[in-house]
Amino acid sequence: MEMKNIVVIGPPGAGKGTQSERISERLGVPHISTGDMLREHRDLKTEHGKAREYMERGDLVPDKIMYRILDHRLKKDDTEKGFVLDGFPRDISQAKHLECIEKIDIVISLEVEKKNILKRLTGRRICENCGETFHLNYKPPEKEGVCTKCGSDLLQREDDKKEVIKQRLKKYREKKLPIKNFYEKKGVLRKVDGNKDIESVWNEISVILEEFIK
Ligand code: AP5
Repeated sequence: MEMKNIVVIGPPGAGKGTQSERISERLGVPHISTGDMLREHRDLKTEHGKAREYMERGDLVPDKIMYRILDHRLKKDDTEKGFVLDGFPRDISQAKHLECIEKIDIVISLEVEKKNILKRLTGRRICENCGETFHLNYKPPEKEGVCTKCGSDLLQREDDKKEVIKQRLKKYREKKLPIKNFYEKKGVLRKVDGNKDIESVWNEISVILEEFIK
């Protein structure tokens, strides 16, 4: 069977995780989020747990750590039919690294205005147990502060505080153009208007996926 390797890029809070989950379900391939993997390492206090200090400042984690985590993950059997990668690559060196290990079929770029990004990040809440993502206004849980899926408490991410958001956005802006140009030249970049509501963004992505798997 042909592999389906998808990358989702976009600013912090663009909806990469939200839409990657749906792509993963639609294509039957794993959702691989480098942010989630780093948070797991942090919580388990592994050797890569030191990445925490970079994340807390809103800085990019050094490539050496990222490559070890990603390469290890992509070797797992569940990526045989493909994957949807969220949070990697963040710059040209990472894009070139990825190119050396995997062929990328589609890069979905979620285009979102700054005012929407700020609302999304400050209103985001995550389940401390299962990791399900909610939003106070756009995807509220049935009961305030409680995960609708598993009933555990909802928390705000440490890096969703205003000062850290500012730094994350700065880092994103510094790197975004070269990476988009890189994939545009390869003919795999597909821009999606990420300002719309979750369902409308998904509808636009679905059209791209249907064309691809036809
Ligand atoms: P990471 O976890 O990847 O953070 P990010 O890229 O900043 O992206 P987010 O997870 O904040 O947002 P998202 O786009 O997934 O949005 P979501 O779907 O949750 O990385 C964290 C840190 O790890 C980095 O800062 C860095 O330090 C490090 N790191 C990770 N990868 C790295 C790498 N490759 N190299 C170096 N360092 C790395 O949506 C956000 C909110 O909005 C949610 O509440 C959601 O419900 C809501 N929402 C989503 N879509 C919509 C919509 N269409 N309308 C309204 N609300 C919406």
